[in-house]
Amino acid sequence: MKRRPFIVALDGPSGAGKSTLARELSKRLGFLWVDTGAIYRCFGLAVWRAYGGGVGLLAQREGILSLLSALHMGFGEGGCRVFLNGEDVSEAIRKPEVSLLTSELSAWPEVRAALLGYQRTLALAASRGVILDGRDIGTVVFPDADLKFFITAVAEERARRRQRELAGQGIEKTVEEVFSEQGKRDRADSQRVFAPLRQAEGAHILDTSEQSLEQVIDGLEREVRRHWEKAQRDIRHFVE
Ligand code: DC
Repeated sequence: MKRRPFIVALDGPSGAGKSTLARELSKRLGFLWVDTGAIYRCFGLAVWRAYGGGVGLLAQREGILSLLSALHMGFGEGGCRVFLNGEDVSEAIRKPEVSLLTSELSAWPEVRAALLGYQRTLALAASRGVILDGRDIGTVVFPDADLKFFITAVAEERARRRQRELAGQGIEKTVEEVFSEQGKRDRADSQRVFAPLRQAEGAHILDTSEQSLEQVIDGLEREVRRHWEKAQRDIRHFVE
């Protein structure tokens, strides 16, 4: 019987550094990285292309939900490239309008239910370990994860980081604009009824405001390795 991979959950608000940490950590540890935000964003992009954003969304509910079954996603370069129905959408899913729409749609229970099984299946296919980053990994997707972290940073610092990231993608926005959009998204993600963003029981809190992400990664890597090696020793002990 295949053993379950070692599961690390990274939850937290947008801009806290989750994706950067998850990507770098997965590389260092040889783990799979599942960027669950990218999964929700693919759906957001598909809806944006079919319906646009804005007010009429609820009236189109049935049509929107029918897009879920036609969603074929793929990931390349260790999770860095994202494909939707064969097309590389890695940049398109990060556009601000897609971010806001995705946040809105991710509050719908049918959307969460449809994408939940996909996230679990993807993660459980990992051979050694898997790092998932999102909003509800430690609370809903894998409440029994081997290690859980809640990554956070003060809102101003998160907005500054996000603004730099967008500038790197050729999207010019002021920090104030990013701050305001981020606030909307934070409120929507943490006040929704289904699977809102909150700290999971047993999660270690990691505030990245004062440290560079490089510094945080080193500490995180040590912590994950320590638990992972212990889990492997426990399994060996159990088998022998
Ligand atoms: O992590 P991100 O910013 O790429 O996520 C985009 C949106 O997807 C976010 O506003 C909320 C939603 N999301 C979610 O509801 N649950 C997750 N596990 C991951 C993302």
